[in-house]
Amino acid sequence: MREKGPAPVTTPTTKNPSRFGFASHLACRECGATTDLGGTHVCAECFGPLEVRYDLPALTRSAIETGPPNIWRYAPLLPVPPDVAASPNTEPGCTRLVQAGHLAGELGMGALWVKDERANPTHSFKDRVVAVALAAAVEMGYTVLACPSTGNLANAVAAAAARAGIRSVVLIPASLEPEKIAATAVYGGTMVAVDGTYDDVNRLASELADEREDWAFVNVNVRPYYAEGSKTIGFEIAEQLGWRLPAQIVVPVASGAQLVKIDKAFRELISLGLVPDTPYRVFGAQASGCAPVAAAFRAGHDVVQPVRPSTIAKSLAIGNPADGPYVLDVVRRTGGVVADVSDPEVASAMRLLAAAEGIFGETAVGVTLGVLRRLLADGRLDPAAETVIINSGDGLKTLGAAAGPDAAPAPIRPTMAAFRAFEESLPHDRAQAS
Ligand SMILES: Cc1ncc(COP(=O)(O)O)c(C=O)c1O
Ligand SMILES: [Zn+2]
Repeated sequence: MREKGPAPVTTPTTKNPSRFGFASHLACRECGATTDLGGTHVCAECFGPLEVRYDLPALTRSAIETGPPNIWRYAPLLPVPPDVAASPNTEPGCTRLVQAGHLAGELGMGALWVKDERANPTHSFKDRVVAVALAAAVEMGYTVLACPSTGNLANAVAAAAARAGIRSVVLIPASLEPEKIAATAVYGGTMVAVDGTYDDVNRLASELADEREDWAFVNVNVRPYYAEGSKTIGFEIAEQLGWRLPAQIVVPVASGAQLVKIDKAFRELISLGLVPDTPYRVFGAQASGCAPVAAAFRAGHDVVQPVRPSTIAKSLAIGNPADGPYVLDVVRRTGGVVADVSDPEVASAMRLLAAAEGIFGETAVGVTLGVLRRLLADGRLDPAAETVIINSGDGLKTLGAAAGPDAAPAPIRPTMAAFRAFEESLPHDRAQAS
């Protein structure tokens, strides 16, 4: 096999944690071939993607519960050193699981929860995956943290590298939301705006990863480690529900890694005996302007046909999703659905979540909640079964998408008469509510 990046690190098959914790090796998700832990992400036999496998330790609920209030409470289930929490990092995770009673009422549902990822250090779930990638990359001797990004990942990589005191290089499509560009630039790393789609940016990053031996592209050459970080969303949901799994979960899909890893987390918790083995259905959400996985699901295909994205949900605009086929596997195995919604439905769902629960999520949650509404209307999701939806990012980073025509009210003069005239002009229901 061609050597790529720093020399592979070998891990003895032992029950004692190594520098990668209880991770034991990498395995190909296509042919099952195994290889040592190290800076490789593609199978030498068939070019399939590699994933991290473990000799999982015996773990108790109380050992986790007494851990730090961030993703490192699950460190034994991640490919990171046992002392990972001691190195400067952004300490993501332990975000709220919000019981969304008003929203459930509006949708005619029973128990509905929102996993609110805005509370992460750069306001999206990407801080989780980056923290794991950074820890593994440092162990493997990489010196630069890099990524191609649809926006949120760029924020997370630039911040995590700043905190760790290493250099970052992020590549983004030039058309990204200005809020996401500003929220990356502030950390002072190198940002490269590329004239092209995310898929063009991703291709360039893959070529660079081949050439720059000490650059850890978190979602390219360090992808097996990076993707494991999304398991912590699944671990937290189970712990926050009192160590049990929800019956249904709706997850946004860009590359598809988040959805696949939430399922992996649920299965690990079951196999460790930390949650009862109850059935759950996983649903995937895409925007109609970039819905290659939903299209394959509808057509009954196993292969995902790439598309050219055009949607306001820029964070999900990956036309050639690396984990697309694995999303189809998980969704079909669990009895879920992958569906898509239009941009107006995305914007409307963003406003619904904000007005019903005080949660201003980004376009990705407009997609997720939009798909939940659609599946309820079509009778494909059970309104009575306990359901979790993921709010993966912050609406302040996609401000333009949700702003309705009346977002900025016309100013009034500072007088009671002007206020009364303003109140008269309000639609009847709003005036009554005030
Ligand atoms: C806010 C947000 N939600 C969801 C996703 C989807 O993540 P994945 O690529 O793991 O499917 C992304 C990816 O960039 C994102 O930025
Ligand atoms: Zn293989």
